[in-house]
Amino acid sequence: MIVPEPQMVLSGSCHPQLARRIAAELGLKFGDVATSRFPDGEISARVPERVRGKQAIIVQPTPNPGEQHLMELYLLADACHRSGARSVTALIPYFGYARQDRRTKAGSPIPLRLVTDLLRAARVDHVIGVDVHCATIEAISSVPFEHLTALPLLLNAIRHGSVAGRVVVAPDLGATKLAQRIAKVLGTPAAFVHKERRTGLDVEVHGLTGEVAGRAPVIVDDMISTGGTIEAAAKTLLEAGCAPSLTIAATHGLFVGPALERLAQLPIERVIVTDSVPEVPAAGLRIERIALAPMLADAVRALHGGQSIELARSRA
Ligand code: R5P
Repeated sequence: MIVPEPQMVLSGSCHPQLARRIAAELGLKFGDVATSRFPDGEISARVPERVRGKQAIIVQPTPNPGEQHLMELYLLADACHRSGARSVTALIPYFGYARQDRRTKAGSPIPLRLVTDLLRAARVDHVIGVDVHCATIEAISSVPFEHLTALPLLLNAIRHGSVAGRVVVAPDLGATKLAQRIAKVLGTPAAFVHKERRTGLDVEVHGLTGEVAGRAPVIVDDMISTGGTIEAAAKTLLEAGCAPSLTIAATHGLFVGPALERLAQLPIERVIVTDSVPEVPAAGLRIERIALAPMLADAVRALHGGQSIELARSRA
């Protein structure tokens, strides 16, 4: 007798490669999804009928174009629910809109809260995310949220190089705790760059705290978007006399707009990111990508197997 699998991994159009890797880790077949657009631009989505009675796991990070990826996710979740899935888990390795988690000016919305409200409206039961920019996402989200970190994976990758003579650097105040944790584990000093964002593309540096002269910096952050933050930090460190050998480590390598050109001009030894978003071709720059699938598969097993998610949180 063939016993039907209790779970089904589905993917939106953003990152089917990662979804396939997660399905393979879980030993599950991959559920084919059909997404397309009507001539007027509306998105249409369809899930397989065999999702009935199963725990549906929809893999869909939400980098640019975030609206398309989110809308697909809402439609797929709604389709799973209406097709009789037992539960719907949205696995969103890169969770966009997380930098917009508060009302910074009169007249502005709270996009992050709205995105999670819409996930709830689409009948998502659980969300799994990795190093979401908003550290309090579990409290803000209107859907139960499992917030994982790739920190142990990044640490392992950084450790593969020599750590002697290094200094771990936070390129802005938001990354301070991350840098302190990494520096403590590596047994190196930490330094902090005081950054102010001028526009979405440009940042300004107001100072540097910590001794970097002669040391090779390991700059750590949650994401590299336009590369402005890393570029500004790197220039500040070089002016302060650091060794011209930079390691950059971040969970999400979005590399939008001028990011790759900005990085290409810096004396970079290593760029380490995860595969939370699809790979961007980067001629001339070797980017190391750490696989998230084993950690994400552990999280799914823990969530649906009733085990503590701490197992997945602490995987190294
Ligand atoms: C901001 O606080 C984040 O942690 C990153 O530093 C930032 O989003 C990176 O963006 P970009 O690469 O465009 O400077």
